[in-house]
Amino acid sequence: MELQELRSFIRGLPKAELHLHIEGTLEADMIFALAERNKVRLPYADIESLKRAYQFTNLQSFLDLYYAGAAVLQTEQDFHDMTWAYLQRAAADGVVHTEIMFDPQTHTSRGVVIETVFAGLASALRQGQQELGISSSLIFSFLRHLSEAEAFATLEQALPLREQYADLWLSVGLDSSEKGNPPEKFQKVFARCKELGFRRVAHAGEEGPASYVRDALDLLQAERIDHGVRSEEDPALMQHLRQEQVPLTVCPLSNLKLCVVTDLKQHNLKRMLEQGLCVTVNSDDPAYFGGYILDNYMAVAQALDLSREQLVQLAQNSMNARF
Ligand code: ADE
Ligand code: ZN
Repeated sequence: MELQELRSFIRGLPKAELHLHIEGTLEADMIFALAERNKVRLPYADIESLKRAYQFTNLQSFLDLYYAGAAVLQTEQDFHDMTWAYLQRAAADGVVHTEIMFDPQTHTSRGVVIETVFAGLASALRQGQQELGISSSLIFSFLRHLSEAEAFATLEQALPLREQYADLWLSVGLDSSEKGNPPEKFQKVFARCKELGFRRVAHAGEEGPASYVRDALDLLQAERIDHGVRSEEDPALMQHLRQEQVPLTVCPLSNLKLCVVTDLKQHNLKRMLEQGLCVTVNSDDPAYFGGYILDNYMAVAQALDLSREQLVQLAQNSMNARF
């Protein structure tokens, strides 16, 4: 298949994006524009020198830059503009539904109130439904390098807003530094979220071991696993994931940029798909990893020589795995 033809074929498949950090869609030029608007000083002379810093050796080396970049977000308008820019890109890639993660603690810890964050995200998502026909929801994600007590406190701050955003805030997630921050650390807050009726996802098996995937399922009652690529190290777990059709939200270009794999040709996405797992393709932090969802599909389609049927299956899996 010609590349252009492959691209329009994938673009035409109705797709859901289920693993996207909205703060990871902040393009370098928008970081500079918002820094100027909000009078925030950046430690980079210009857009090009910021982009030159996007050379990551592991998850933490990325997170350090990602949290620094998010510091330019101050007002409701900033959150709106960032989200709207993402939705336009997603629509152009043939995304019809998106479940967006955001990190409330990254903002509240800087003095941005949770009301500002919700208001900006929600106005863009509602506009996206009306003007672009994209349906969406929000995944309120806890930072796992912080304590469970801090996760509880953030949840408490946000709960008064639940009714106002009942159409959007459906779920909670767990992200940030995986190694050394196992799922069990957040068992109580996830149990509380389940009691409150929230759907649950968790990053696991990105850099951390397969046992974190199992614990995310057993201890956090996660309904989808973000990444999960290291599940392959545990055959019994693989069997469980297949039997229960637990969705894995895989992010190929992220795995490459963060050195989870050294070459996309070695990525296990196709193997997991062929074993009947509910694998999906997503972009994670597209502004930092060199591509939005269509670029991720294209990259694996080429590197792993995926058939049309497999591409259809991946898109179908994403639609089936929606909340
Ligand atoms: N936050 C943003 N991107 C992330 C990733 N790939 N893993 C964990 N936390 C994240
Ligand atoms: Zn992620």
